Amino acid sequence: VDQTLFRRFREIAYESAGIALSAEKEALVSARVGKRMRALGITTTSGYLERLEADRGGEELLAFLDAISTNYTRFFREPEHFEFLVGVVRQSAKRGRKSFRIWCAASSTGEEPYSLAICLSEALEGVTDDYRILATDISTRVLANAGNGVFSEKSLAPLSKSRRAKYFRKTTAGSGREPCFEVTPELKQHVLFRRLNLAKPPFPLRGPVDLVFCRNVMIYFDNAVRQGLISEVERLLRPGGYLVIGLAESLSGVSCELSQLRPSVYRKRSIPGIASATIARST
Ligand SMILES: C[S@@+](CC[C@H](N)C(=O)[O-])C[C@H]1O[C@@H](n2cnc3c(N)ncnc32)[C@H](O)[C@@H]1O
Repeated sequence: VDQTLFRRFREIAYESAGIALSAEKEALVSARVGKRMRALGITTTSGYLERLEADRGGEELLAFLDAISTNYTRFFREPEHFEFLVGVVRQSAKRGRKSFRIWCAASSTGEEPYSLAICLSEALEGVTDDYRILATDISTRVLANAGNGVFSEKSLAPLSKSRRAKYFRKTTAGSGREPCFEVTPELKQHVLFRRLNLAKPPFPLRGPVDLVFCRNVMIYFDNAVRQGLISEVERLLRPGGYLVIGLAESLSGVSCELSQLRPSVYRKRSIPGIASATIARST
């Protein structure tokens, strides 16, 4: 790709989704844009750019963002975060909480929110059925996948046999030759999928939420975009609520009042103005 054209693709990715494409991504962008061009029957990169710019906010912009973004995810990715969640939810339920709200920001194809639903179902069995996971992503393609809740046998590998049997049913809904599995309606009813652009605060969400999982998406954002996002997370968390970010991520360069519990887990103060260390001892 011509340098000027690449710069324009970078600007579009940043302005529309907060995605900061580094210079090393040029080959990737060029390969993926090439694929889009073939699908549309466009032969020059500048032709594609024209099409994209004429269609800002429309369908091609979504297709472009889909093409350049990485949707990699899997069930129970970074398992310690799910263990942490189960601990927090159990403790909270023991103290009498009967309702749980979780926001899974950048939920990709659904493995993460369904893993969360499985954990909540198990942690709250016999206690309450009132738990909901709001799962959001910028990509309508991954959201459609996630909403269907159909997964290949291979993708279920991280799940134990008993979890597979309990939360999935074999289905013919998949497109390929491989057998596919669909999340049961009992589990699905706890997860709501919505499109949300994390780079465009304020978000049309009310909160409060008990826990936010926002993992492996801030790596694509620069500090300005991360700051806007984290400020919104702070607003939406209930006092004492938690933010979980990817194991490879950090909030360095972002100013916020969340206190760090461990490298990728943060907590909002229980009572505003009181140091979180004091709170930690008393709750
Ligand atoms: C690598 S996946 C991470 C999925 C999951 N959170 C995990 O940790 O396995 C990153 C996801 O972020 C989404 N994404 C990228 N930019 C976004 C934005 N501005 N707003 C919302 N989602 C975005 C992508 O569509 C993709 O599904």
